[in-house]
Amino acid sequence: MGPERNMKTEIAFTLNGFPVSLSVSAHKRLLDVLRYDLGLTGTKEGCGEGECGACTVIVDGRAVNACLYPAPEVDGRRVVTIEGLMDPENELSVIQKTFVQSGAIQCGFCSPGMIMATKALLDENPDPTDEEIRAALLGNLCRCTGYVQIVEAVRLAAEKLEKRR
Ligand code: FES
Ligand code: FES
Repeated sequence: MGPERNMKTEIAFTLNGFPVSLSVSAHKRLLDVLRYDLGLTGTKEGCGEGECGACTVIVDGRAVNACLYPAPEVDGRRVVTIEGLMDPENELSVIQKTFVQSGAIQCGFCSPGMIMATKALLDENPDPTDEEIRAALLGNLCRCTGYVQIVEAVRLAAEKLEKRR
């Protein structure tokens, strides 16, 4: 490991609504900062190569793969993880509830990433078609459910969120 790899940089960002600052090495991944430096283990590591979506978090409103995202790049940005979705009364969010209700969670390993990708989709497009849902979740793999229940969960969440507006 060369000396530049050990170089640390100070970063400050908003994590689930709270300000966070810490020192990270230049090549550290956002995924490792979240899981190991900050202890937020809801974000999962599957492939580690940008292929499975298990590590999906939202940065400035956009779903990104935290396993590919360089930690220094979150400086000044807003990051939301699955831990940030609970509502202020500490209840599961609408999206989390509809995933449970629809049977879209089996082993649960893909679920945080699926749910964060869904959150990014519905924030941007509150009434997506099934095709749009499938397109938005294309980068999120599930080896258990066969996706039908996941699409149902997203559709149901969209309906429930629409009623709340
Ligand atoms: S762990 Fe990041 S995409 Fe698979
Ligand atoms: S529920 Fe097991 S991978 Fe999706």
